[in-house]
This record gives sequence, C-alpha cells and structure tokens, in this order.
Amino acid sequence: MSDRKSKETYTHGYKSAVRNQQRRTAEDQGAFFIRHLRPGMKILDCGCGPGTITVGLADVVDPGQVVGIDTGQEAIDLANKLIGERKNLKFQTGSVYELPFPDNHFDGVLIHKVLEHVAEPETAMMEVARVLKPGGVVGARSTDQGALNIVPWSEAINDIFDNLQDRWEKNGGNPFFGRLQQSVMRKSGLERLETSHRVETANPDEWRRAFENIWNGDYEEWLSRGFLTEDQVSDPAQMTKVKSDLKAFAADPDCSFVTSVDYETTGWKP
Ligand SMILES: C[S@@+](CC[C@H](N)C(=O)[O-])C[C@H]1O[C@@H](n2cnc3c(N)ncnc32)[C@H](O)[C@@H]1O
Repeated sequence: MSDRKSKETYTHGYKSAVRNQQRRTAEDQGAFFIRHLRPGMKILDCGCGPGTITVGLADVVDPGQVVGIDTGQEAIDLANKLIGERKNLKFQTGSVYELPFPDNHFDGVLIHKVLEHVAEPETAMMEVARVLKPGGVVGARSTDQGALNIVPWSEAINDIFDNLQDRWEKNGGNPFFGRLQQSVMRKSGLERLETSHRVETANPDEWRRAFENIWNGDYEEWLSRGFLTEDQVSDPAQMTKVKSDLKAFAADPDCSFVTSVDYETTGWKP
C-alpha cells in the first residue's frame, strides 16, 4: 500500500457534513448521469454516503437493481433508512479500491464527490471500469476548490478554506482533483469522454448562522470539519481577529462566496 493510501481518511467525516449531503438528489447533482439511464439497468453508486442520490437512481432504473457502497458504516446506516418499500436497492460497506463484484457486471456506475478524497484515484477508476460492462457508462463528479471567490475579500474566510485544503491533503485527498478527472478516466480506458461544470456557492444566511458558534466560543464543529486549527483556537489574539473579520463579512448584505467548481464527466467502456 502506498504511503498516501495508508493515510487516507475521509476529511468531512459523518456528522455535520452529512447534513449537506442529505440534500443531494439524483435529479439535481446526478442529472448529468441519469439522462443516460433506462429502466432495467443495473447500477452501482460508489461512495454513496447517506444514499439520497442512490435512492433516486433506484427509482429511475426500477426494476433494475441498484447497489450503494461506502467505506463508512455510519453512512451506510443512514442510507439503509431510505430503502422503504423499494425492492431494487441495497447498501453495503466496501471500498472503491476492491469492489466486491465480478468483472463486466454493471450497466452504469456513479462516483459522486469521492475521487477527490482518495489517494489513488487512478486505481479507483480502473476498478470502476473493471466492474462496468462493455458499453456501460460511468458518471464521475468531483470538486475543485481552485475557484474560491470571496466577496468582499475576507482573510478569515480565506483561512478557513486554506485550513480545510491543508487537512484534506494530509488525509490523502486532493481538493483540486476536479481538473484531473477527465484524464484519469481516459487513462482507465473509458471513451467518448465529456465534461461539464457546475459552480457551488455558499448560502450566506447558512454561514451567518454557522458563524454564531464561533462568536459564542463553541469551536468544536469548526475544528472537527478542519475549518479552524488547534493553533488558532488556543491563541486568544488570533480568535479575536477571526471573530471580528467574520463579523465584518457577515454584516455585508452582499457578502457571498463561490466555494468550488464541480467537474461532471461521463465516459463509456468500449
Ligand atoms: C463527499 S461524500 C459523497 C457521498 C455521496 N456520493 C454524495 O454525493 O452525497 C464522500 C463519500 O466517499 C466515501 N469514501 C471515501 N473513500 C472511499 C473508498 N475508498 N471507497 C468507497 N467510499 C469511499 C466516504 O465515506 C464518503 O461517504
């Protein structure tokens, strides 16, 4: 196992970040992929997280079977609660590096916001291509944080993203993976590659509410998400500066920030 792979840890964790993931749907985040799906297809959702996209895939291909896999037992426990009456959907733990399926098994594989968290995206994509039938489609969507745009400029907000990106890289991932996605898919033998882009923006009101924890001195969630560092919170002078910076940002009625560009790539196995 490579050094980077052995350090691999999922940066966002399974607590507060999962709340954002639970808003995701196949119709919205998966639109670039589901337009290639038909009823009866057998689909894998790799790194399915809490499963909100996966259930949408199951409804689109019904009666075709859909499997969601994820390394996180906590994510799979949440996903299992969504199955309801569906007979064509199951979730299981497993890694994209060693998919527990035979060669040429699926008509389609979605890998949504996962490749930027793995240390060896090329190995992961080769494994995805292995389980795909000839003629099958892969949809990959990965973030690229290189498009961060903060209005008005705020050092504290910029530091939050620097901290996050630093933690992300230490955990073996690449917060700038999006731009590499198409070439990784090409190298794994996929063809007819097409990439589209979507901008992710932060909701200023949600962030204003989240800042309240900082103003109240409750740093736990911010530390656990990698937005603040232990060095910062143990230094009162630094925290005074962070708080006043965030207050100034939040007080601007026109404050906004673009967090990332998502790269959406589709490709087919020859
Ligand atoms: C940002 S979440 C995306 C979840 C879901 N696809 C979505 O968009 O809502 C990334 C997920 O990838 C999973 N993950 C990380 N490394 C993985 C691996 N090697 N194999 C399978 N899943 C992995 C994490 O556990 C996490 O649930």
